[in-house]
Amino acid sequence: MNIQQKRKDEHFFIAEKLYSPSSNQLEEIQLIFDNLPELSLNDIDISTSFVGKKIPAPFFINAMTGGSDQTNKINIKLANVATKTNIPMATGSQSIAIKNAEFADGFEKIRTTHPDLFLLGNLGASHPFENFQKAKSMIQANAMELHLNVAQELTMPEGDVDFNWSRNIEDIIKKADFPILVKGVGQGLTPNTIKKLENLGVQYIDLSGKGGTNFVAIENQRRLKKDFSYLENIGLTTAQSLLAAKKYSSEIELTASGGITTALDIVKCLILGAKNVGISGLFLHILIKDGEDGLISFIEDLKDQIRRIMLMLGCRNIEELSKVNYILSPSLKNFNDQI
Ligand code: FNR
Repeated sequence: MNIQQKRKDEHFFIAEKLYSPSSNQLEEIQLIFDNLPELSLNDIDISTSFVGKKIPAPFFINAMTGGSDQTNKINIKLANVATKTNIPMATGSQSIAIKNAEFADGFEKIRTTHPDLFLLGNLGASHPFENFQKAKSMIQANAMELHLNVAQELTMPEGDVDFNWSRNIEDIIKKADFPILVKGVGQGLTPNTIKKLENLGVQYIDLSGKGGTNFVAIENQRRLKKDFSYLENIGLTTAQSLLAAKKYSSEIELTASGGITTALDIVKCLILGAKNVGISGLFLHILIKDGEDGLISFIEDLKDQIRRIMLMLGCRNIEELSKVNYILSPSLKNFNDQI
């Protein structure tokens, strides 16, 4: 097993070992419900947009893994679940398969065994456009994710230390004839980053806030001296990221992720301006605990619960969620006033 395969296995095992969502602060947002909604459950439409395409439910399986024997098997299971529940799925970083062509077959198999899956590939921001094109054709991806993971690289024992990424991102966006979803990895994207990305031509952004999988904590577990534990709390929570990004939600299609565990979390993200929501750690945890069938029924329940919550709010469709009133906790209000 090479060093990248070993890292893939370690990320997967440590993420599951540490699985215990802290707080993404969505619980600090109180929704104002409607006691006379004048709707029935059949009236509720939960379809939305995702990287510019229409999807039937407002959430997807976000990037996690692939490239080693164990993680390739996980991807096939996730792809089975995504296909059966008709939700999109993203692979983890394909960097390992770009660097070593012999590791591409695990990723290729996701597509050959699931021809109809809405599938996204994934690479980091240092890869040139040509690699994004290779990664896309490796799995005939419908779109590519591009991750920004400065804090992770700087706390990773073998991580990058060179982050001159903006010109490269601009080049990728200009040349790509497929959607590029620029994403964080669980520390949130700040409003000044979103402004820069908007100027580079980026149209799709996944805020991926703090409160779920924490890559600084995961990398810290991989260090001999666990000397970065004090950095595990850096970043913006999912609720903070959304509040800070709200003003961009009419120009940029926002995805929310980070510590999502319930249908109420998903609805709150949609109210705060996200068009769709990504889930990683929770789905991985359920897959390991309850298998594919357990994850399928969890996902079908999520869809039903989203409909029920939207009815309680008096909202017929996702667009109508933008008119829902909410109250912020003093801490979130303070953040919102200052950011
Ligand atoms: C991830 N995530 C991730 N993101 C990315 O862009 N490329 C990657 O290769 C990975 N790898 C990865 C492995 C594992 C095991 C997990 C759990 C997560 C980050 C993921 O896509 C997401 O941004 C964060 O995990 C926050 O969402 P959750 O996990 O809190 O729902």
